[in-house]
Amino acid sequence: MEFIDLKAQYAALKEEINANVLAVMESARFIGGPEVKELEEKLAAFVGRKHCVTCANGTDALQIAYMLYGIGEGDAVFCPDITFISSTEPSKMLGATSVFCDIQPDTYCICPESLERQIKAVLDEGKLTPKAVVAVDILGNPCDYDAINAICEKYDLILIEDAAQSFGASYKGKKCCSFGQIATTSFFPAKPLGCYGDGGAIFMDDDELAAVCRSICVHGKGPRGKYDNIRVGVNSRLDTMQAAILLPKLKAMIDHEIDDRQKVADAYNAAFEKDFTTPYVIPGCQSIYAQYAILAKDTATRDKVIAHLTEKKIPNMIYYPTPQHALPVFVDEPAYGEKFTNADDYCARTLSLPMHPYMSAEDQKTVIDAVLEAL
Ligand SMILES: Cc1ncc(COP(=O)(O)O)c(C=O)c1O
Repeated sequence: MEFIDLKAQYAALKEEINANVLAVMESARFIGGPEVKELEEKLAAFVGRKHCVTCANGTDALQIAYMLYGIGEGDAVFCPDITFISSTEPSKMLGATSVFCDIQPDTYCICPESLERQIKAVLDEGKLTPKAVVAVDILGNPCDYDAINAICEKYDLILIEDAAQSFGASYKGKKCCSFGQIATTSFFPAKPLGCYGDGGAIFMDDDELAAVCRSICVHGKGPRGKYDNIRVGVNSRLDTMQAAILLPKLKAMIDHEIDDRQKVADAYNAAFEKDFTTPYVIPGCQSIYAQYAILAKDTATRDKVIAHLTEKKIPNMIYYPTPQHALPVFVDEPAYGEKFTNADDYCARTLSLPMHPYMSAEDQKTVIDAVLEAL
């Protein structure tokens, strides 16, 4: 059994993917081919944004978002304590300071109360300028955007939605990647919409911001092209081949994969809700279950389940073992006395199980039986 079965997805979409890849090879338009534009238009339409700019990976997408707003020295960027380092890495790279916030005990996304406490602490101390919030739709589950938007408006902060894990999910009728002034996603192979290598995208509605974004992605190019450099940029683009692979995968996601993921989650929820904390999704929202995580009653129980699954050769993972505030790279970031109780508790009890839209009922049963047996 695979944790995320990319081979099963390829088998289902093989004809279209192969034809698209061959067409790119025959056209020899490996960079900036028409498939890139077609994909950007389809991605923007799907999430309900005016612009989509594809780039080399989800980490670049975040760094470019930070660069677009000139985030740097003296700025505080508020991030959830549970995320992958890419959400917060650009702060360090660009000289800004990451200020971590605790997570919600139910959605595991950034806690609005903790966010407001940290903003007030930064303002009270008076050393840093509160600049941006990076809201991460963790495990594919959307954040509480009503509350986060209100806080960003109140304190005049830029909202960056890190939707690396949540492409395909939605919050109260709006798709993930449509929140904040700017949103980013990742097409890393194991992501809900993954390519066959690295890829990413940046979404926004503002025309001028989109134009500057395209410039930053190509070495800060100016109106006369890439040898007319008018700002500091990067070299970050999605290859034509990856766009050609993503086109049929996007269609499959829209046609059935979102529903198929939900069906696996429903089966898991029904089986586990008595003995574990199962994923909570805000009413009216949909998670894409980039990961399906359960929380055991304590670490010992979680580790017992891991040992049993591993013995039975059932893949399992911990996303994430360490909260951001405890990572060696961030030990010097100011915490302002915040306790991160929910994040610590989450790391101590979480366990992710095999989850993908092509998972057979038999494999689901094998996982369910093994988890329950372990108890
Ligand atoms: C929350 C989050 N943000 C950003 C990224 C970065 O994406 P990439 O691996 O494409 O650079 C990831 C990737 O795992 C992620 O999980």
